[in-house]
Amino acid sequence: MKNVLFYLIATIAFSCNQAPSNNNLLQKKIDSLQTEINNSYKPGLGEFMSQIQIHHAKLWFAGKEENWELANFEIGEIQEALEDIPRYCADRPEVKSIGMIIPAMDSLSNAVKVKDENKFRNGFILLTATCNDCHKATNHGFNVIKIPDVPPITNQFFKPQ
Ligand code: HEC
Repeated sequence: MKNVLFYLIATIAFSCNQAPSNNNLLQKKIDSLQTEINNSYKPGLGEFMSQIQIHHAKLWFAGKEENWELANFEIGEIQEALEDIPRYCADRPEVKSIGMIIPAMDSLSNAVKVKDENKFRNGFILLTATCNDCHKATNHGFNVIKIPDVPPITNQFFKPQ
């Protein structure tokens, strides 16, 4: 019995002693994971913008062809990028202005929901103007966005199939 008690006390004392060093190990692991996260690839604001640019162009042709399913998808892709920007580009002060695009996105999204080509055209003009408003507001006014003349890529149908 005495032996068992001794064993129990010794085990408890040993585990208590182990606790701080386990914490240290855990902290080391957390630190190394943090370094990994910090060094891992993060898309920059310019990359998000280039991605948005493609979806903006595809969206135009989708809407023009009254391919509302595709238009809705392209709006979703722009939306996702807009939502990711504050998360991934928190170090860029320009990100504070991103909210100015929300009303234009909402109105275009509504035009697509009601499948109204006229509303879509007006909404797209407003969206494009807002892209440029933000570029001007953030000292990037030399990036001038316009309604595209030709589809951005030739290996995709924009007409509903
Ligand atoms: C925060 C406000 C803001 C909004 C809204 C915005 N942009 Fe930008 N855009 C920027 C900034 C800032 C840059 C410069 C990024 C950089 O430093 O690489 C930029 C750069 C760009 C570029 C150049 C990317 C490159 O690397 O060549 C394109 C294209 C672009 N934006 C397209 C758009 C389109 C299309 C929209 C609208 C659907 C839009 N942007 C909306 C702020 C904005």
